[in-house]
Amino acid sequence: MQASQSTEEDPLLPAPYRVVERVRELDDVTTLHLEPRTGKRTCVNPGQFNMLYAFGIGEVAISISAAGETERGLFHTIRDVGKVSHALSHMKEGAEVGLRGPFGSGWPIDGADGRDIVIVAGGVGLAPLRPAIEAVLAKREQYGRVTILLGFRSPKDILFPQPIHDWREQHDVELHVTVDHADADWRGHVGVVPTLIQRTNFDAKNCLAFVCGPEIMMRFSAQALLGEGVSPARIHLSMERNMKCAVGHCGRCQFGPHFVCKDGPVFPLERITSILSVREV
Ligand SMILES: Cc1cc2nc3c(=O)[nH]c(=O)nc-3n(C[C@H](O)[C@H](O)[C@H](O)COP(=O)(O)OP(=O)(O)OC[C@H]3O[C@@H](n4cnc5c(N)ncnc54)[C@H](O)[C@@H]3O)c2cc1C
Ligand code: FES
Repeated sequence: MQASQSTEEDPLLPAPYRVVERVRELDDVTTLHLEPRTGKRTCVNPGQFNMLYAFGIGEVAISISAAGETERGLFHTIRDVGKVSHALSHMKEGAEVGLRGPFGSGWPIDGADGRDIVIVAGGVGLAPLRPAIEAVLAKREQYGRVTILLGFRSPKDILFPQPIHDWREQHDVELHVTVDHADADWRGHVGVVPTLIQRTNFDAKNCLAFVCGPEIMMRFSAQALLGEGVSPARIHLSMERNMKCAVGHCGRCQFGPHFVCKDGPVFPLERITSILSVREV
């Protein structure tokens, strides 16, 4: 697939993309289906992100939540928390956004053949993991056990309910959803997602774990995975820091000795243990 003109020629120059569809996922979460004004979309790997520019307002890093089946579609799932995310969340169909990317490292799925896969997501952290889940399930026979553990604040905050249902019903996976706060109709797990890690079966010596969510949830999840005997080299976390250039020039996203935009956002725990302070949690 052809890479975008903007990224090939100047990674700081946004390419014009059109909002083809806007899907309200939750009260504060929206998915934008984008297509380039001309040509094909960028070629992307699960776990990468783009910089989305709401013209006149600002630019933020947003993970790619699906690449779409056509050579044009690209999906980004955005939580409305501030100025730029609010503007993007309220874009009308037909509106134009600027897009730079894709940037960053993805989930290391290529090195995962024959291993058990453990995916742990909290809230909107499921968005960057969704393409990884779908890539793994598309080649399900290449992996050992596949475990998907998802945590949300409450039943009404469950993101992507239909895909979650399909993953569970149509594939050989162990999938659990937990909520922090249940309502009267909830019959599933209650509690934070790291507590599910001890209750599931996977081969700690031969698995890869992918974790994304609020930083505190990632710290507890990493600690639980370490407690099960998973090596820090096999636990991968997607980190969030404010970004500006996204290409390793400005230093805005510095995380210890690393730049999240260029060295991450996906890091093996062994590279960031000291700065993530796993033992202090
Ligand atoms: C690699 C990477 C991938 C990302 N992927 C996504 C994604 O897929 N979807 C997405 O919605 N965001 C994602 N983000 C976060 C996004 O880049 C912005 O930080 C976020 O949208 C807030 O920007 P803003 O300008 O709207 O808010 P700001 O004006 O920066 O912040 C407004 C207020 O919200 C708080 N805040 C900022 N970020 C968050 C947050 N994530 N949750 C709760 N409160 C917050 C701030 O502390 C501040 O108080 C990603 C960030 C990185 C680095
Ligand atoms: S955002 Fe500029 S160095 Fe990472």
